[in-house]
Amino acid sequence: MEQTLFIIKPDAVKRNLIGEVIKRIENEGFEIIELKLLKLTLHQAQEFYKVHKSKPFYEPLCKFMSSGKSIFCVLEREDAIAHLRKVIGVTDPQKAEKGTIRALFGGSIQENIVHASDSKQSAEQEIAFLKTLLASS
Ligand code: CMP
Repeated sequence: MEQTLFIIKPDAVKRNLIGEVIKRIENEGFEIIELKLLKLTLHQAQEFYKVHKSKPFYEPLCKFMSSGKSIFCVLEREDAIAHLRKVIGVTDPQKAEKGTIRALFGGSIQENIVHASDSKQSAEQEIAFLKTLLASS
């Protein structure tokens, strides 16, 4: 079994899409190991996305991710990391495969509804990030 970090971003929470998104995750056989509604501070968002620090979208992304509450989940399943990436679709909702969460619920390349870890290493780092947040909340 493998674990991955999943975030339902502030745009989806504001649009009341939590239930729709979670239903799709459960239908794909993921077990929800952890689930928490959290509002990141700007500093926490900057830390979470630090791999993108040099990118032009980094500051607007961090502002967006700290603009409202998000749902943070640890999900478990066989091949969880790759399978979840398939279920959510590519980063840009306009290019995401039909039926994926990002294609279904639209948004922009920045406000793209959800986040999922992209590798074993980032899953470990991102789950550790969430555990630190939970320990201090
Ligand atoms: P996510 O899967 O959370 O990983 C990094 C995030 O940066 C991505 O989803 C988008 O929210 C954002 N992002 C990636 N590329 C761009 C881009 N070209 N313009 C704006 N935001 C982007």
